Parts: sequence; C-alpha cells; structure tokens
Amino acid sequence: MTENKSAWQDKKDSLPKRIGLASDHGGFELKQEIAKNLRQNHYEVIDFGNTQLKQDDDYPDYVVPMARAVANGEVDRGIAVCGSGVGACVAVNKAKGVRACLINDTFSARQGVEDDNINIICLGGRVLGQSLAWELVKAFLSAQFSGAERHVRRLAKVEELENGGSNL
Ligand code: RB5
Repeated sequence: MTENKSAWQDKKDSLPKRIGLASDHGGFELKQEIAKNLRQNHYEVIDFGNTQLKQDDDYPDYVVPMARAVANGEVDRGIAVCGSGVGACVAVNKAKGVRACLINDTFSARQGVEDDNINIICLGGRVLGQSLAWELVKAFLSAQFSGAERHVRRLAKVEELENGGSNL
C-alpha cells in the first residue's frame, strides 16, 4: 500500500500541455472545435482522428489509440468524443491505466481530476453545445489530482482490480 501511495502521489504533476483528441463521426464537429480552441490557447494537440467526417467510421478505431497514448505518457491527457460520449467512454476505459468518464457538468470535470485522477474526459457531440463543451475541457485541464490520502487509497484499490490482484 505504501508503495502504491507514493506512486500515485508522484503523479500529482504539473498541468497538462500535450492533449490527445479522438472522435468518430458523431463527435467529429465538436472535436474539430475543441482542437481549434486548444491550439488558440497554446496547448499541443495530437489528433488521433478521425481526421475527416466519415459517417460509417467506428469510435474504437480512434479513441483506443488515443487512450493508449494517455496511458503510456505520450500525451498528458485525452479527450474522446462520440455522439453521446458513452461508447467512447466504454472503449477508452478498456485501456490499462486509463481513468475516463463521460462528463456533462463542470463540477465533475474538475472533481473527477482532483479526487479520481481521471486522465480522459468523454464528451457527447450530439449532446453538448460547443460553449459548454469548452467550459468542461477548461475545467478538466486546469484541475490537478489532490493526492489526498483517501483518494490515493481508493485509487489503489481500483488499480489492484485492474491488475487482477484484488480481493474485493
Ligand atoms: C455513432 O452513430 C454513435 O453511436 C456513436 O457516436 C456514439 O454515440 C456511441 O456511443
């Protein structure tokens, strides 16, 4: 437990700069808008696609490579967009090391990082307006994991589950 704790606390790092984005057709327009806003705000954007609007594309093809890039540290955090945000969220959470959530309010966008150390937010391109989506992205990117003992303890239990060593 002690080792886990310090590993998590080490992850209380500086604010993210390299942001991975991915979407299918349902999230394409919103992804493009978010990418533009991020670049205007001096973030480095790594777009995992789709890079064109293709009505029959499949969200796992884009969001999973992005999720792996978040998990292995190629990018600092990620944003996954599909029509509802639901499918993208299910898919990215299959990548080991990803903690992602579908987010529709600014409280959860911030607290999801502070308490639960989420590293990807999932958004619904057919649900959110562009202004709210941008507020959610800003809240997500400007928040940091608190490193508080109770959150570290809880996340260690989740990590044990992911590693197959949990006795829950
Ligand atoms: C694609 O039409 C749509 O199902 C997808 O974007 C997403 O909403 C799935 O959760």
